[in-house]
Amino acid sequence: MKGMAALSLAVFGFLVPTVQPLPAVVETLGTRKREASADITIDTPEGEIIVNDTKMKFITVPEGYDNKTRPGPSAPDVDCSIHVLKLGPFLEKDMLFPISYYFACNWTDTRLKVPDNHTFAYVDESAGSVWKPLPHPVPMSDTIIREEFVEPPLVIAGGTVYMLKKYTFNAPCVMKLYSFPHDQQFCNVPIMMRGGVKASWGAMMYWPVQDQPILMNMQAFRSVFRVEYLEFISWAGSTLSPKETCIYQKGYCDYGGSEDCHTTSLRCTEAENQNKSECINCSFFGGKCKTYQTPNCSSVLQKVDEFGIYWTNLELRLKLTRRLGYHILNSYIPSMSVVGMSWVSFWIDPSSAPARTGLGVTTVLTMVTLSGKVGGAPELNYIRAIDVWMLTCKLFVILALLEYACVNFTALTQKRKVEQMPEVDVERQTKKEVGQDLDLYDCDEKKPPPKFSVSTLTAEKVNRSVDHVSRVAFPAAFAIFVCAYFSFYLADSP
Ligand SMILES: *[C@@H]1O[C@H](CO)[C@@H](O)[C@H](O)[C@H]1NC(C)=O
Ligand SMILES: *[C@@H]1O[C@H](CO)[C@@H](O)[C@H](O)[C@H]1NC(C)=O
Ligand SMILES: *[C@@H]1O[C@H](CO)[C@@H](O)[C@H](O)[C@H]1NC(C)=O
Ligand SMILES: *[C@@H]1O[C@H](CO)[C@@H](O)[C@H](O)[C@H]1NC(C)=O
Ligand SMILES: *[C@@H]1O[C@H](CO)[C@@H](O)[C@H](O)[C@H]1NC(C)=O
Ligand SMILES: *[C@@H]1O[C@H](CO)[C@@H](O)[C@H](O)[C@H]1NC(C)=O
Ligand SMILES: *[C@@H]1O[C@H](CO)[C@@H](O)[C@H](O)[C@H]1NC(C)=O
Repeated sequence: MKGMAALSLAVFGFLVPTVQPLPAVVETLGTRKREASADITIDTPEGEIIVNDTKMKFITVPEGYDNKTRPGPSAPDVDCSIHVLKLGPFLEKDMLFPISYYFACNWTDTRLKVPDNHTFAYVDESAGSVWKPLPHPVPMSDTIIREEFVEPPLVIAGGTVYMLKKYTFNAPCVMKLYSFPHDQQFCNVPIMMRGGVKASWGAMMYWPVQDQPILMNMQAFRSVFRVEYLEFISWAGSTLSPKETCIYQKGYCDYGGSEDCHTTSLRCTEAENQNKSECINCSFFGGKCKTYQTPNCSSVLQKVDEFGIYWTNLELRLKLTRRLGYHILNSYIPSMSVVGMSWVSFWIDPSSAPARTGLGVTTVLTMVTLSGKVGGAPELNYIRAIDVWMLTCKLFVILALLEYACVNFTALTQKRKVEQMPEVDVERQTKKEVGQDLDLYDCDEKKPPPKFSVSTLTAEKVNRSVDHVSRVAFPAAFAIFVCAYFSFYLADSP
């Protein structure tokens, strides 16, 4: 075990400088493969390199080795592990997320011998390659999968073979956006293993943190989402002809501690910080994991498909919760302040029409612009939470504008009534001016003026009271809406 730890450090030390020049690239388009030949040339005397005083030798496959035959009589165990390098950003529009990961597997092939005096050796595959399991991520969409061998296969004494590949592709994730932006999403990355092997998630000596099968570089995780937890699952059964399936491995990793990695200001890409324990913890974050008891699935694993080979699958499931910060700053606060602004109108004199209409129209237009800015909407045919919010805010500013229309209309009708009455008055007044200049205190003429003043007063009173009621009713109704909205959607996503 101690030797294993030393070896892991040695190999990891070797891995880092070799990551840059990628030796072989296999680009897979759908299921068709185009293979580029692996030409790894490391110029060292006698094919040996020395890492921490340990001699490493390149070996070739032995005489008569058949790379089409699986090692062992039955299905060999293949333990695999993932180090996620990049995840996200999540694209709601295309329902995709880019993912990039190192995929390492180990199995036992006793046909391969490490020379004496050496603890491990790399396989020079230029003459002939070793048997390898065939992993294949199965995205539902036709995205291009970039598949690269990072290192030549490594054999350690005893015949355990290690393989390290890197995958980059856009994984599909069907998102339900009913409660956007208070939504939680479940995305999964399935990996099909062909070739009659029993694939499982396991610890991997390549990574500096070895107890978890799935590690994630939280420093590189830049997304509006937060990883809540992940599940790792291994199951038997073909995704191409799903008749019988059986889950034989299931585990759960809590990612609660991952938030610390976003708050640390450490620059873990810098060489000086690489070996700091905080950086190792965040660059190889595995969470708190536990595995569940699962059946051994021997009945399904024994069954074969038409070609005599059964399929096993590895699956990685992520639960993501959207961070609200962006939407609070860019949707909720601006729209709330615009709605608040529309209420200023109730404190402005109803007779100053330009001020009140100007304010009303401006707030309505601002709301229209704001709701147009809410991004991330694919062509959905359902209403999201943010749409409910924006529509209600729009309704509130429109109602504030309509309230003034109402007030203005009543004022106008009152004014008309009043204007019809003093017509007589004006005629008499002119008569007065022409004929009887001095007769100002005529008792008959005194009847219309009181009527005039009373009607104006009632109209003004009505308008005032409408404004007075609005001043309380609008904010109260909006407060009730805000409470109802947040209690509904926040309760929906605990
Ligand atoms: C070599 O590995 C051992 C642990 O097995 C370690 O103590 C030592 O410091 C390493 N030497 C170098 C030069 O890294
Ligand atoms: C793979 O390697 C790990 C140690 O890194 C070991 O515990 C495990 O048994 C190996 N799996 C197989 C199938 O050889
Ligand atoms: C390698 O093995 C030979 C014998 O086969 C032995 O003499 C030599 O000391 C060994 N070298 C090391 C570094 O262990
Ligand atoms: C077996 O080796 C040959 C020659 O190197 C190679 O072309 C072929 O792809 C290998 N097959 C498998 C299944 O690895
Ligand atoms: C990190 O590596 C440097 C040398 O590169 C060494 O001086 C330092 O002690 C190491 N720090 C830790 C925490 O291992
Ligand atoms: C990193 O993780 C190890 C093991 O989980 C823990 O002992 C150590 O305290 C952690 N370091 C930091 C800086 O969090
Ligand atoms: C798996 O379970 C069956 C019974 O369900 C048992 O007969 C068999 O021995 C088990 N295999 C292993 C490898 O535990």
